Amino acid sequence: QEVATRDAEKTEDKILYKRLAKHNYKEARGEGAAYAKLTSAAYHKCTHILCSGFEDGAFFLHEMPDFNLIHSLSISDQSIISIEFNKPGDWIALGCAGLGQLLVWEWQSESYVLKQQGHFNNMSCLAYSPDGQYIATGGDDGKVKVWNTSSGLCFVTFNEHLGGISGVAFSQSGQVVVTASLDGTVRAFDLNRYRNFRTFTSPRPVQFSSLALDSSGEIVCAGGLDVFEIFVWSMKTGRLLEVLAGHEGPISSLAFSTGHAILASTSWDKTVKLWDIFESKGSRETILLGSDVLGLAYRPDGAEVAVSTLNGHISFWDVHSAVQTGSIEGRPDLGYSRKELDKITAKKSAGGKAFTSLCYTADGQCILAAGRSKNVCIYSVADQILIRKFEISCNLSFDGMEEYLDRRKMTEWGSLALVDEAAEDGKTSIALPGVKKGDMSSRHWKPEVLVSCVRFSPT
Ligand SMILES: *[C@@H]1O[C@H](CO)[C@@H](O)[C@H](O)[C@H]1NC(C)=O
Ligand SMILES: *[C@@H]1O[C@H](CO)[C@@H](O)[C@H](O)[C@H]1NC(C)=O
Ligand SMILES: *[C@@H]1O[C@H](CO)[C@@H](O)[C@H](O)[C@H]1NC(C)=O
Repeated sequence: QEVATRDAEKTEDKILYKRLAKHNYKEARGEGAAYAKLTSAAYHKCTHILCSGFEDGAFFLHEMPDFNLIHSLSISDQSIISIEFNKPGDWIALGCAGLGQLLVWEWQSESYVLKQQGHFNNMSCLAYSPDGQYIATGGDDGKVKVWNTSSGLCFVTFNEHLGGISGVAFSQSGQVVVTASLDGTVRAFDLNRYRNFRTFTSPRPVQFSSLALDSSGEIVCAGGLDVFEIFVWSMKTGRLLEVLAGHEGPISSLAFSTGHAILASTSWDKTVKLWDIFESKGSRETILLGSDVLGLAYRPDGAEVAVSTLNGHISFWDVHSAVQTGSIEGRPDLGYSRKELDKITAKKSAGGKAFTSLCYTADGQCILAAGRSKNVCIYSVADQILIRKFEISCNLSFDGMEEYLDRRKMTEWGSLALVDEAAEDGKTSIALPGVKKGDMSSRHWKPEVLVSCVRFSPT
């Protein structure tokens, strides 16, 4: 908790530093304050202001060289990892990695210029507004954020959900955002008054895994993960209208066609069901697929659906006749990758790769597809060929990036990732199968590279 001002004396070939003064943060932090580590600091040369941040979220402004306290504030309870002054020295930017937070503070007027925070965990779903101006995102942290696509800034965050968000949709008017969550609620948010104006629930708690909103914005549907039913509510009254039963596995996705209000639902029971919400009870059509269905997208004209399955295929179906019109074998395009702890080759583990998110272009000519892989693919629907492939990351710190085993990471006992780092008395100890010894939490762990949702801008 000390800072020393130093002066450099330049001699012929080396720099000598000399301590001029030693100051203590005791006075600034208060005599009885708990010990906290200094984590970041910045000094502005012209105004002689020193800003220092601590691991408990507190930061201080001192005037140098006398170390006079100007301000002491706290932004959160998380460590401030980075501080920077702007050139004139009136704005201070503070970065907080634990919360994914960036603050820009004007110290003279004591006001925030900018306050931005990302999702704390994985972002799980996103939706464009119909005019393409906003993006709404839902995260595993239960937060729903709405971003301005031209400035890239988030302008509202909704915290009402208590569990991870699994689906988000904009109404056709662009004024309402609807979200489904694993906490058992579906909520509607008003983008004019920034409030949660409707909450939809099922008679008994259900983890909602998917969401669809019809084009009039009157009907809200959500599918269950633990209960294999689809719930249909009225947006106007908030009442449950119907429960659609028929699927025999978790519902993986829901989508409404534009115009006809035909709801398509996909499930792990290897079927796609088409429901006419207004006309009849029960499903109108059932399409059988040979593999678990993971994702579905309607062509913008509503006449065709694209369906992705666990075997890595994307198949195309005519909605009116339920006849298959095409198929794409996508597994080679998802790429082969070998995870660090995999004991099988990349080609074998590609067996688990599939597309989980699909989206048509506005003209219906192409389809965007991504899943548990670093690759995002664009296919031509008519020709059923790959047009482009993007890699979302080239950061090798993620798991699932490499196709082959790295020889440098191999030891004579196997992969280095399987070797416990905290070895007793300096010797490397190998974790044998079934042996639970040492600190399990110290196990080396890498986040896996994957894409949870892809969308084209409607414009
Ligand atoms: C993020 O998602 C991945 C894959 O679904 C999961 O394994 C991981 O635990 C998630 N991370 C957090 C922090 O929830
Ligand atoms: C979005 O950002 C643009 C450019 O910065 C700005 O002109 C526009 O007013 C913003 N819209 C909203 C709703 O904040
Ligand atoms: C690469 O990924 C790791 C793990 O998520 C992360 O800690 C690191 O900051 C990333 N590096 C870059 C340059 O983004």
